[in-house]
Amino acid sequence: MKKMLIATAAIAAATALALSGCSSRDGGSTGGSSDAAAAGFPADSLIGVALPSKTSENWVLAGGLFEDDLSAAGFKSDIQYAGASTTVKDQQDQISAMITKGAKAIIIGAADGGQLATQVQAAADAGIPVIAYDRLILNTPNVDYYVAYDNFKVGELQGQALLDGMKAKKPTGPYNIELFSGSSDDANSAVFFDGAMSVLQPAIDSGDVKVVSGQTDIKQTATAGWKAENAQSRMDSLLTSSYGSTELDGVLSPNDTLARAIITSVKAAGKPIPVVTGQDSEVESVKSIMAGEQYSTINKDTRNLVQQAVDMVSQLQKGEKVTTNDDESYNNGVKVVPAFLLDPVIVTKENAAEAYANDPTLLPLTQG
Ligand code: BGC
Repeated sequence: MKKMLIATAAIAAATALALSGCSSRDGGSTGGSSDAAAAGFPADSLIGVALPSKTSENWVLAGGLFEDDLSAAGFKSDIQYAGASTTVKDQQDQISAMITKGAKAIIIGAADGGQLATQVQAAADAGIPVIAYDRLILNTPNVDYYVAYDNFKVGELQGQALLDGMKAKKPTGPYNIELFSGSSDDANSAVFFDGAMSVLQPAIDSGDVKVVSGQTDIKQTATAGWKAENAQSRMDSLLTSSYGSTELDGVLSPNDTLARAIITSVKAAGKPIPVVTGQDSEVESVKSIMAGEQYSTINKDTRNLVQQAVDMVSQLQKGEKVTTNDDESYNNGVKVVPAFLLDPVIVTKENAAEAYANDPTLLPLTQG
């Protein structure tokens, strides 16, 4: 069934954008198509891959996978990461350099989705198609395709896991929770948060769930730079200000790195670990889940996402129509970007072995 849920995202230079987090996936996707940039280019061309700084394990994995998969598809590659501190400028310079080097397509995991308009305009002027990888690029007509896991669904799964986890521990509410969201320069952050709130808001409205701090606005819950230390210090403050003698039942965390920081804070305060959600299936978080600390994560297998992006490049190379399966959800402020969305999977201790059955790194962690 199709759902149309509009998420209002305050992103990049206070531009309010309507990002709709709906998905057209109904079990299997049939795949529409779009024919932007259909000219084709030589089979051994250089492909640029500009990734953000390594704020989570998925980005580390993506670099190596792009190198392998682009090479297996016959391409040369130029893979660059933005640095930790001069992130935006680094990425802008790296994309400009890829254009100069003659890249025939550029895949971008945006460091700041609102600050690449000049660079992707230059790519368009040079006839180079641009694929937004994992994070949407905003406020420009010059992003041809988007490939990502369904971000809104990620949020919905996190919100539901939080409710389920709390109920499993304590059959009846009311439940006390706190909310965390990602970095405001990442277009995904608002979509994750809105997906989660679509599940949590009814429980908050009914009084079954209470955000004790009262901090429910994304501006209050944001974690600058997706940095663990920022989540940890906010959790420290929340515990001091709102949980002196009050029990904390759950925390919505948008990813694993932040989940572990939140758990560290709670432990340091000498409190019992609440139900904490996550995302990315990072090794340390899978271990934490199996040890009964972090409650859930999301499996967004990076191997599949990279392969999907490389498949798009191969279609562009041949001058074929690029396969997409969602041509309505991702409005970047200027246009709806044709997208291929993959299906995220919720993982708890209960289904971890099944969820990671095809993952040689994670599966052993689930087996005692
Ligand atoms: C990605 C997440 C990741 C976060 C921080 C988001 O854009 O979708 O998987 O945890 O960035 O790196």
